[in-house]
Amino acid sequence: MSDSDADRTIRPETSGLNSEDPEEPESDVTESTGETVTLRIFRYDPEVESKQDAGFDTFRIPTHEGMTILDALIEARDEQDPSLTFRHSCRQGVCGSDALFINGSQRLGCKTQVSELKEPIQIEPLPHHPVVKDLVVDMDSFYERMRAVEPYFDPDDPPPDELTERYQSRENREDVKLSTRCIWCGACTSSCTIASNEDVYLGPAAINKGYRFYADEREGEDRAEERLEILQEHDGVWRCQTQFSCTNVCPQDIPLTEHIQQIKRDATKADLRFW
Ligand code: SF4
Ligand code: FES
Repeated sequence: MSDSDADRTIRPETSGLNSEDPEEPESDVTESTGETVTLRIFRYDPEVESKQDAGFDTFRIPTHEGMTILDALIEARDEQDPSLTFRHSCRQGVCGSDALFINGSQRLGCKTQVSELKEPIQIEPLPHHPVVKDLVVDMDSFYERMRAVEPYFDPDDPPPDELTERYQSRENREDVKLSTRCIWCGACTSSCTIASNEDVYLGPAAINKGYRFYADEREGEDRAEERLEILQEHDGVWRCQTQFSCTNVCPQDIPLTEHIQQIKRDATKADLRFW
């Protein structure tokens, strides 16, 4: 299905609460009691006739100190609507599987506190991806872009045997340190208007992954040159318009725009000719 907002509000909003629940509030869904939180959750299920038109359901969830958006979603699913579908695994900001569009911004559900957000909290799937069901999106195009930069260590000269360590200088480790933090959540690429409009643009996550190996001195100069070529092909760094949206939403605080700019600078220097 299309991922546009217009297509996400076709059917009237319904409540995710069991209608026989005597505690169900009648209409004041925007008013927080301080003990509950109101969630507007995007719903879509191509296999269920009543949910083929996308829309939002409202859930009122009892809160507790430290509750995250992921906790609230789990509560909604386990206590109110077992058909509510979303991805999650580690619950501690490591696996990258619960990136969502929460109150208009890409965030990890498990790193976002309910108490920090204005109600009703609107939770949608990551924009610019086809929706599979409810909050689950198809990430294939994201993974294809990551694969395109050959995201693995690939040195010019492999070590003579598997027990020989390959040392990295402290300075070089500092250069690549932040780029290694990526958890493949896709928040940055989803936030980028260039990546969203052009499937061919590698996008910030893939470029950062390319940078991670390009800047690693242990791969060697020849491999660095090849990586620079990959990153500046027609779908590479030159499509970036330095909007900073990727850097702003990255849950790992990776300076993505800075890394893209570094690749642009190095590519320009590599192309300079003096006659
Ligand atoms: S760079 Fe940041 S926002 Fe992008 S995929 Fe990696 S962790 Fe997620
Ligand atoms: S559940 Fe793993 S990052 Fe949130």
